[in-house]
Amino acid sequence: MTNDYSTISADHDRLSQLIDLVVESMSAKNSTKSNIENALTNLLNAAKEHFINEERVMEKAGYPGLSKHRYDHAHLKQCLSDYIRLFDHGMISPNSDGGSAFKSWLDFHIKKMDNEFLSWSSSPHH
Ligand SMILES: [Fe+2]
Ligand SMILES: [Fe+2]
Repeated sequence: MTNDYSTISADHDRLSQLIDLVVESMSAKNSTKSNIENALTNLLNAAKEHFINEERVMEKAGYPGLSKHRYDHAHLKQCLSDYIRLFDHGMISPNSDGGSAFKSWLDFHIKKMDNEFLSWSSSPHH
């Protein structure tokens, strides 16, 4: 179990680095469209992989909040893919939010929902 939890937390660090790269690529003056798209795609791929792993850990632990959590993951994935599509079609300009939406998006999910799971799993009452 300890391994599962340290993997989750390593994933979170990695996601947060990838978000920083998105923010950087969006705010850099010499950044190209493909730099930004690469950064966004790397984030999406890492998020997808992380969500699968995290849901597997939750399933194994019998977490009662799993379906709600799964729903939030699906929603995050959808928002990110939609964003990438809109960006690709030129409907979002790189500096419209400077990538900060992603930062608050994932920060909120990790701080609120992932931590709910971690405190549930470390509580002696289940
Ligand atoms: Fe999560
Ligand atoms: Fe997570």
